[in-house]
Amino acid sequence: MSEKYQKRILCIGAGYVGGPTMVMIANKCPRYKVTVVDIDKGKIEKWNSDALPIYEPGLDKLVKVARGKNLFFSTDIEKGIRSADIIFVSVNTPTKTFGAGAGMAADLQYWERTARQILECADSSKIIVEKSTLPVKTAQAMERILTAEKTDVHFEVLSNPEFLSEGTAVADLEHPDRVLVGSRLTESGIKARDELVNLYAHWVPQEKIITSDIWSSELSKLVSNAFLAQRISSINAISALCEKTDSDVANVAKAVGFDNRIGAKFLNASVGFGGSCFKKDILNLVYICQHYGLDSVADYWQSVIHINEYQKERFVLNMLNTMFNTLAGKRICLYGFAFKADTGDTRESPAIYVARRLMEEQAQVIITDPKALENAKQDLAGLKGDVEYIDDPYEAASSSHAIAIVTEWEIYRTLDYERVFRSMIKPAFVFDGRNIVDHQKLYEIGFNVHPIGKPAMTHLR
Ligand code: UDX
Ligand code: UDX
Repeated sequence: MSEKYQKRILCIGAGYVGGPTMVMIANKCPRYKVTVVDIDKGKIEKWNSDALPIYEPGLDKLVKVARGKNLFFSTDIEKGIRSADIIFVSVNTPTKTFGAGAGMAADLQYWERTARQILECADSSKIIVEKSTLPVKTAQAMERILTAEKTDVHFEVLSNPEFLSEGTAVADLEHPDRVLVGSRLTESGIKARDELVNLYAHWVPQEKIITSDIWSSELSKLVSNAFLAQRISSINAISALCEKTDSDVANVAKAVGFDNRIGAKFLNASVGFGGSCFKKDILNLVYICQHYGLDSVADYWQSVIHINEYQKERFVLNMLNTMFNTLAGKRICLYGFAFKADTGDTRESPAIYVARRLMEEQAQVIITDPKALENAKQDLAGLKGDVEYIDDPYEAASSSHAIAIVTEWEIYRTLDYERVFRSMIKPAFVFDGRNIVDHQKLYEIGFNVHPIGKPAMTHLR
């Protein structure tokens, strides 16, 4: 049976990263057997059903092509380890909530447990691939655990960070800007690296597959996310200045982004960045810098997070100040709760902060989102305050005093805002935390419009 396949790949962790990555590998490498395992039985059941555990455009189609042929989802981690040639580890590495480094360092307990499980079950040599984002030198810790006992089997640890972005994961995996493989520069390290390079070469052009030493590879992932987040914090910091000087942040971003050396991407001012990676990875970077006594470097990167927190609070305070310094009892409708469009993921979403602060101001918060309402309910469970969840954006806005656009879902660009306006309490406000609606048009309909980093358009005198 197994001769049918050239290689057997295992991925431990069937989450946002492990799931889509393995689905793509299975589609592109039909002669490789790809098995994805997870400790969460419910999640594996969903991967084996028509209702996948994550929403990602285009993913279901790819799952259907490969599942049952060369793509399998299972909870039998031990069997998976025994039969695999290459093991990707994609378990979560959240920020530590306890003990030394709490709130900053990565919590590596799942990671270490997985390493020990591999050691316990493996009876032949294997390549272990770090897919999760990890602090620099984690591969070394992994190697130390894996070489602590057995001598007859050899484990070669590689770093292969994931650069996919949620909502566009399928396209990012299919046409990556680059694939990075970090290895030891020993003979066995380079041999293992070449195996992984060959896997990706099934569909990624050779010039986009880059290799490096293992520590640089680990660090590159943290630095890539830190640079992306830093661009958003830079433009968000400027958005505050634009609001004070009657300038338009979109015009500034356009002029700046036209410079080839800077480029136009990731310069959209917003209510703040969210997602499972940016904050966690920067905190990790800050923690490592502090560990090595590089306090000025740590402070520099910490300020990226500081501006993000400032931006979220500024958004809420702008609502409070504009709406006559009280939100108590007012109905405020959040358009969107996901951390970005085209995903149901709400991890670190600015919407969580905004909703919580509005509830503290005793506003009645109404939340609508095409994909994230179930996650929103979990995120806000246990908070004191008045909150409702409504699928239909028209119904959600009805009888509200204000709409706050928090996620850039396409649907919010094209609503019938005359209808929305008619159903709202006057004066009606729109706070556009993503600058996605036609501000002039909404103003003409009668809304008081408050974008990010642009002059407000108000009928109030
Ligand atoms: C996670 C990390 O958050 C990120 O830093 C890293 O880059 C990749 O892994 P993601 O896939 O988004 O990203 O996380 P999540 O969706 O939570 O998936 C992790 C999966 O690992 C979960 O399904 C969890 O059940 C599983 N897991 C966790 C195991 O199978 N075994 C464990 O011991 C722990
Ligand atoms: C990010 C990285 O892009 C990806 O390479 C890495 O592997 C994982 O982390 P992701 O978090 O899925 O991906 O989404 P991303 O598109 O980077 O957006 C992150 C946050 O920044 C979102 O809240 C988004 O709305 C916000 N953002 C993005 C802005 O506020 N302005 C922008 O110009 C771009």
